[in-house]
Amino acid sequence: HNADKGEFKHYMLKEIYEQPDAVARTIEMAIDNGVTSKLREDFLQRHETQLAGIRNIQVIACGTSYHAGMVAKYWFENLTRLPCSVEVASEFRYRNPVVVDNSLVICISQSGETADTLSALRDTQKQTPVGLVSLALCNVPTSSLVRETDIFLPTLAGPEIGVASTKAFTTQLAALMLLVLKIGVTQSRIDNERLTTLLGELQKLPGQLFASLHLDAAIKTMSESFEDKKSCLFLGRGLQFPIALEGALKLKEISYIHAEGYAAGELKHGPLALVDKDMPIVVLAPKDSMFDKLKANMQEVHARHGELFIFASESSKMVAEDRMHVVYVPDVCETLAPIVYSVPVQLLSYHVAVMRGTDVDQPRNLAKSVTVE
Ligand code: G6P
Repeated sequence: HNADKGEFKHYMLKEIYEQPDAVARTIEMAIDNGVTSKLREDFLQRHETQLAGIRNIQVIACGTSYHAGMVAKYWFENLTRLPCSVEVASEFRYRNPVVVDNSLVICISQSGETADTLSALRDTQKQTPVGLVSLALCNVPTSSLVRETDIFLPTLAGPEIGVASTKAFTTQLAALMLLVLKIGVTQSRIDNERLTTLLGELQKLPGQLFASLHLDAAIKTMSESFEDKKSCLFLGRGLQFPIALEGALKLKEISYIHAEGYAAGELKHGPLALVDKDMPIVVLAPKDSMFDKLKANMQEVHARHGELFIFASESSKMVAEDRMHVVYVPDVCETLAPIVYSVPVQLLSYHVAVMRGTDVDQPRNLAKSVTVE
């Protein structure tokens, strides 16, 4: 495999850098370059009748794919008003869950072979609810998951070798947004104005992802502060909460530093007790509707001598001060910001891991595809 890495030291870094192209390919499934008034006619065309009938969405996934599902829940409920639940497959399959009639069951999986996700899917099918539609959001067209579902929505990430998922995650998010739009338009739940805005924003995404890769050097410098740390917190609110969870997962997977992702509004209910000068706190702080609330959360942490590492939008006017480091992420619309903010947390965990000398592409005790329970 070595040759395939090209100029990159690890597959993970190469895959992080492939994201602008991978996301561009994925959105081209549904969007004609320059056209912002409508989705491509051939996008999920065969499944329009099925998608028109769904009244509820259930997402099932594991690991990083589960975090993509969490973002999708915010999108589905906010943009289409269809109820959406998200659950890790290993819990869903063993608790005898209710699958209501006319549900769309979305299984998100890079590999399409994750044992728990497949079993959870089969369990929903056994319940035979009326109008059940199953969809695989998957990176491997020949996988078991794709064979066993009604609809296949591909992520066109290309092969992902690094155990820690990167480009599969951002392409899952891009494809999920396309699905939200398709269902919203099919059921007249998204109006033309909103559609035009989001299609325009989606077309800017590859460029914004590319611009976020320019933060690499600044994030590498930032990562030096994490090398000797034992534990770390990631904070976000709203659409950035799942990205906080994903940032924490990435850091623990490849650098072996204990990390927790938290909804910043929950600080007072526990994690604030952990905060001291040795606890780095990473904050995802785009200038969005939650920004002022998040700023108050950051002040709470700062007042308790926590050291803040903030990813903020250029327009937020956050300035660095003592124990408060700021890296500016390109401005991006609130809805799509979780896709762009994935990049800095990936780069951060990557550089911390390299500094600590771990096996970045094959972290100890973990497997790329978990085909046994
Ligand atoms: C493993 C991988 C993760 C991945 C998870 C789910 O834990 O190391 O990167 O997110 O499985 O895999 P899937 O193929 O179902 O997305």
